[in-house]
Amino acid sequence: MAGDTKEGVTLELVTGSAEIFGTDLQLNKKYTFPSGTRTAVFTYQGCTLELIGPTVHAYVSNNTPMAIFANTHAGLEDICRDTENGEASRGFVVLVVGPTDVGKSTLCRILCNYAVRKGRSPIFVDLDVGQNCLTVPGSISAAIVDQLADPVHGFQLEQQISYCFGSTTPTANMPLYELLIRKMAENTAEWMKRSRNACISGMIINTCGYITGEGYKTLLTIAESFEADLVICLEHERLYMDLNRDLPNFVKTLRFPKSSGIEDRSQNVRSYGREAMVQRYFYGTRALPLKPYRIEVPFESVEICQLGAEKLPDSCLPFGVSADDHHTKVVYMKPDMKLQHHLMAVSTAKLISPEVLNHNVFGYVVILEVDLQNHTFALLSPVNELPSKVLIYTEVVFMDDQINL
Ligand SMILES: Nc1ncnc2c1ncn2[C@@H]1O[C@H](COP(=O)(O)OP(=O)(O)OP(=O)(O)O)[C@@H](O)[C@H]1O
Ligand SMILES: [Mg+2]
Repeated sequence: MAGDTKEGVTLELVTGSAEIFGTDLQLNKKYTFPSGTRTAVFTYQGCTLELIGPTVHAYVSNNTPMAIFANTHAGLEDICRDTENGEASRGFVVLVVGPTDVGKSTLCRILCNYAVRKGRSPIFVDLDVGQNCLTVPGSISAAIVDQLADPVHGFQLEQQISYCFGSTTPTANMPLYELLIRKMAENTAEWMKRSRNACISGMIINTCGYITGEGYKTLLTIAESFEADLVICLEHERLYMDLNRDLPNFVKTLRFPKSSGIEDRSQNVRSYGREAMVQRYFYGTRALPLKPYRIEVPFESVEICQLGAEKLPDSCLPFGVSADDHHTKVVYMKPDMKLQHHLMAVSTAKLISPEVLNHNVFGYVVILEVDLQNHTFALLSPVNELPSKVLIYTEVVFMDDQINL
């Protein structure tokens, strides 16, 4: 189903039972999907649905890999039980890979939801800096999934950890991307050690669709850093073969077909999706609305930096400094009109130093206005006081047309 006009589409389960990506639908409850949504309702036993509004494609299909996904969940649940009984050391770490638009994020959501339905709380790690489903674009994030995803809006999870990458494509700075991946892997391993529940429930890791060249090598780095037990490859046969060749023997691999309902998304649709995620980060959803603050801060009360610098010619480099170092440089940025409308991460670091790279972030703000005369920034922020003075620049731009604070 896809509504492509301004109006949304309302869906109601009238009889039977059905779910959306692992979350059961309530009988006779009206779910309103914003225009442009692509989704699928799945039923094991049969159901009647009512759709009200302008759908673009609404059809019934028997061609679905849901049974394969459910079997995979059953296998993972067996490992959870073995861990509970002391027969395994931890729940499985599952890595989901594949090209763009094959249903990677959806499969992660289904596996997390099915686990929650069994009383588990897996760690969900989203390493996709383009379409991150936990926080905002330009970041990598992880959360403990202790509640089902909303059928319309997906996960809205409290216990999170996030690192700012700053760009929506890993190719913008591969060394930085890999460094942050390793940081995230250290953190989530710590979560597994500290929380018995997370240890039993395991981890589901989502990746972005960059699977060739450097992107492929990064997938191997991810598998190694997170100590993946199982890699699920969606659709792409050659990727699956390559992974079988290059991953250690103890890593299991599976290849699943993509759902026939998934269509390729245009760049426009992707960028609209990114905007929607930033909107959701600050304003929440219809089910769980949030009220962000507009806060004014003097220039001197914040420090802004960028992760990664322009590459200098080798002749300009000091002796002993390698040309690659520029990727992971923390560069101070002056207040400037160019920062207006940019999303910024609020670092847990106390001041700007190379240490910023080792720090995760409290959250994100948007620079609404740069007032060069009064030396102040106006920020859109989820909290009314900045928890730290260090802001990390991202290339993500958000034009806030809803602000009325
Ligand atoms: N069975 C299905 N029928 C129709 N739409 C679906 C189905 N499964 C997933 N979708 C929708 O297809 C779109 C793409 O799915 P998804 O985001 O999971 O793919 P992806 O591989 O993660 O894409 P990306 O490469 O952008 O990360 C989403 O909007 C999702 O809601
Ligand atoms: Mg995805």
